[in-house]
Amino acid sequence: MAFDFSTAVKKNLPAPSAAPWSGFPTYNFVGGHNDPGSLPVDKLTRACSDVLSREGKTLATYSLESGPQGYLPLREFLVGKLKKYSGIDCTTDQILLNSGSLQAIDLINEALLAPKDTVIIEKSNYGGVISRLNRLNVNTVAIDVDQHGMRTDQLATTLDQLADRGIKPAYIYSIPTVHNPTGSIMSLERREHLIRLAVEYSIPVFEDECYADLIWDGKRPPALYALNNSQVVHVGSFSKTIAPALRVGYTVADWSLIGQLLSLKTDAGSGALEQMLLAEYCREHFDEHLASLNVNLKTKLDTLCDAIDREFGTSAEYTLPPGGIFLWVKLPETVDTARLATVAEKQSVAINPGCEWSLEENANQYLRLCFANPDVDTIEAGVAKLAEICHREFGVPVYAGNTPQ
Ligand SMILES: Cc1ncc(COP(=O)(O)O)c(C=O)c1O
Repeated sequence: MAFDFSTAVKKNLPAPSAAPWSGFPTYNFVGGHNDPGSLPVDKLTRACSDVLSREGKTLATYSLESGPQGYLPLREFLVGKLKKYSGIDCTTDQILLNSGSLQAIDLINEALLAPKDTVIIEKSNYGGVISRLNRLNVNTVAIDVDQHGMRTDQLATTLDQLADRGIKPAYIYSIPTVHNPTGSIMSLERREHLIRLAVEYSIPVFEDECYADLIWDGKRPPALYALNNSQVVHVGSFSKTIAPALRVGYTVADWSLIGQLLSLKTDAGSGALEQMLLAEYCREHFDEHLASLNVNLKTKLDTLCDAIDREFGTSAEYTLPPGGIFLWVKLPETVDTARLATVAEKQSVAINPGCEWSLEENANQYLRLCFANPDVDTIEAGVAKLAEICHREFGVPVYAGNTPQ
């Protein structure tokens, strides 16, 4: 009889995966996948071949003769990119390359959090952060987020109340530039307010900017790190701008944190080939790639919004995001999106229910749709199918004749 490892594993681990992966659903609106049509496969192939023929022998060493912070030419590229797109002044010594920004998040959490600590986050948030914080057994204090980002007036009151109770948060985590899931961009005024509060209460700020380069008109305020480069740790990624499968992200921080993260990063270096090919490709092509990716993503967003308006009518509400890959949709209170997701999944329509992306009381009215991966025909057909399932389950949208109301 086969040994059952479930009898041997530690207690209190996250629930195991129910089954091996069995393929993507036909209508895939979940996760943060990218647009396959925008992937510059030919140029990436050439970049890979060029860099390997020139420097391939450095693969014989751990860390490619660049040290544990990662491939130096990619860090050099990032110094220029961060200045140009996010207003950040930094040096290559302030950058640590990671295996996706998720590794950065894990390392920062390991360095800064202990069980029972308190952290401040935005109320609607990245599911990967909510689940990590739950697992780490820390207390989360959630602040509302609107079209202009985290409500810093509420943050001020909250910090004051926590201080009265003798509680000093371990960090303030924010996704200020193209927030996940709402898509909002925090105003400059609120950024400055947030930094002032962080300095006043001496609390580290954890800035996660993985969608920041996906803004249709390119307009955005400087990063929080650009406003304070000693108290902010900034995390970014190539997942959304180039490809998530490459698993390359980065941390920008003062050496007092980078040095500590290095001691916790025990993987002997993140994947080298990915870093080499990204540096080679991005040096020449990043700007032009980003411009065309944003055009393609905007077309998909427009298609999604048209389909939602057509299929759900006034039952669906959303704020048009200025960039990114997600639409955050609110349905009437009679709809439970967790149940909708379960029923839809059986019919090959995958959506993220609001309860996994928000601590709002009415989170179950929300759903998050990623529009980057499906093509425009699939977006249209998928939304029509979702509306049909939602109508059958919840009577929403209400159909009068053939049109939704
Ligand atoms: C806000 C946010 N941070 C971090 C990540 C992790 O991205 P990656 O590890 O692919 O860089 C995601 C992924 O969707 C995200 O939405």
